[in-house]
Amino acid sequence: MTATTNGTQASATGVVHPLDPATPAEFEAGRQILERAGVLTPTARFSYYGLEEPPKAEVLAHQPGSPVERRLRALLVDIVSGALTDAVVSVTGESVVHSRNVDPVTEGQFPILNIEFERAEQIVHADEGWRAAMARRGLTDISKIRACPLTSGNYELEGESGRRIVRVLAFVHESPEDLAWAHPVDGIAAYVDLVEGRVLKLIDELDMPIPAESGDYNDPEVRGPERTSLRPIEITQPEGVSFTLDGYALEWENWSLRIGFDQREGLTLHQISLDDDGERRPVIYRASVPEMVVPYGDPGPFRYWQNYFDTGEYLFGKFVNSLELGCDCLGEITYLDATIPGDDGVTTQVKNAICIHEEDHGVLWKHTDMFSGSIETRRQRRLVISCFATIGNYDYGFYWYFYLDGKIELEIKLTGILFTSAYRGKEYPYATEVAPGLGAPGHQHLFSARLDMMVDGLENAVEEIDVHGLPIGPENPRGNAITRSITRVTRESEGARLADTNRGRVWRVINTKKRNRFDEPVAWTLHPQPAPTLIADPESPLAQRAGFATRQLWVTRYDPAERYSAGDFVNQHPGGAGLPAFVAADRDVDGTDIVLWHTFGPTHFPRPEDWPVMPVEHCGFELKPSGFFGRNPTLDVPRSTSHDCHHH
Ligand code: CO
Repeated sequence: MTATTNGTQASATGVVHPLDPATPAEFEAGRQILERAGVLTPTARFSYYGLEEPPKAEVLAHQPGSPVERRLRALLVDIVSGALTDAVVSVTGESVVHSRNVDPVTEGQFPILNIEFERAEQIVHADEGWRAAMARRGLTDISKIRACPLTSGNYELEGESGRRIVRVLAFVHESPEDLAWAHPVDGIAAYVDLVEGRVLKLIDELDMPIPAESGDYNDPEVRGPERTSLRPIEITQPEGVSFTLDGYALEWENWSLRIGFDQREGLTLHQISLDDDGERRPVIYRASVPEMVVPYGDPGPFRYWQNYFDTGEYLFGKFVNSLELGCDCLGEITYLDATIPGDDGVTTQVKNAICIHEEDHGVLWKHTDMFSGSIETRRQRRLVISCFATIGNYDYGFYWYFYLDGKIELEIKLTGILFTSAYRGKEYPYATEVAPGLGAPGHQHLFSARLDMMVDGLENAVEEIDVHGLPIGPENPRGNAITRSITRVTRESEGARLADTNRGRVWRVINTKKRNRFDEPVAWTLHPQPAPTLIADPESPLAQRAGFATRQLWVTRYDPAERYSAGDFVNQHPGGAGLPAFVAADRDVDGTDIVLWHTFGPTHFPRPEDWPVMPVEHCGFELKPSGFFGRNPTLDVPRSTSHDCHHH
């Protein structure tokens, strides 16, 4: 059975919680208030529109049933003048709380609008110079050329300052079914002013043959006959699921948390806590992935600027998929819909955007005892909260896992289509050939997780823990010693850290006031995966804008205004915003309310096997209790009742 809820998910008691996602009615009320106040003019469009969460202290003080002030933030782009307005409206107070103009030169542009995808293509299709460049390449049927509106970055190019710019690369789309990404028209890039509606500059310096091999993986001619050897796997839970969902409040085993959704961040999780013998112990106040950047490594004149901040420039949540039972999610699935405001501020519902289910996860613990003869096995299980978003050529799955033993894991699944170029030969070492004449430039996918920690309360601190040996000496005569170095992060300037795989480096978040039965601070540990940080030169314009990606870890003092790793207005920002700016104040982060920011993700030199559609690549991190409990918290998990499990 599938429980599908509608987007205006009310709890069983009908009460709104301060962190519940904004409803279609709230978005509409906010839109009308902005309109009446003259902030939303006929030529203004919503670049972002979402819930403005109350500060933490207010949320923590909230009593069930007490009134809640609901605020929405709107980033408005005037499509005629290009003016930018950042406004907050109180839906319950029926007023505009504040509204200000944003200067695109010093503060950056707002994210790409939906209409700008189509508009960018119309602008290049209408441009004489671009048409002539296409005709020279034998492309006379303009209707078969797809234009990609790619965010421009900020390279201080002449004539671009203050304008709303995208850079457009083209692909040939032979037929409606054709995979256009297989046919890049390389050597030409159009720099487009979206407000004036014209091509500012055309870079057209290199004629490369257009790769011809079809990438249509649905075409039997391309993929060959389908295999017939796979027998069905079905997952059933005859007694139903073990979790309950009341509004957006989720309870499973000892876990409780709230689910949120935002047009920018996508899935957000709130107030994650564990029940320990009847005591509700908080772990994380808020967890999300507020930024990611995909820097491409081809230094050529047509694509050196290719780096997309998929969250800050395009908005991840806006492109969330509607999931299908049996295809995207297997088993006993509960779905939540997502409410997505459009350019006009009017919402649409994405059915089944968030998938919640339980999964068997193999063995939890097991032992055959040589002395007592006891044979015991317990099975691990995890609760999965997931969604998928498609941003242009790539598709990203966000999977949060909660395990019986207290582990929290974020796994991101990367799939979809590689971004392609014309392959320029083995002497041009920035791409791999994935089909005849088709190149796929090397690139990175650098995600930034924001983990607003609350380990057993607000008084937290971070320790960096390295494992290492010691030289042979009186205390270590045979040289086998293994020990740990524990370094406390006391200020923000000390909290910008790199990972070190050879030292097994982890970061432990402790509560400075609460201790466990061994008189050690209760703690939760972040385990990173080995992967490079931002590879671009530290002096590059990109490194200025993606400062967050130059470190695996940042520790900041909680500030409700610091929500996005690369700053609020990422598109065309000149640089320096986000985490490097947050830590410039060098605040005290020892024994106070702190936020962990973790950079992770693959550095991807494409393989032929990644073409024409990429098998899922995984990345993420784990958070594990480490002295939060006094022993293995899963001794109470009973033996499996499955009839398949027999002991003799
Ligand atoms: Co990739």
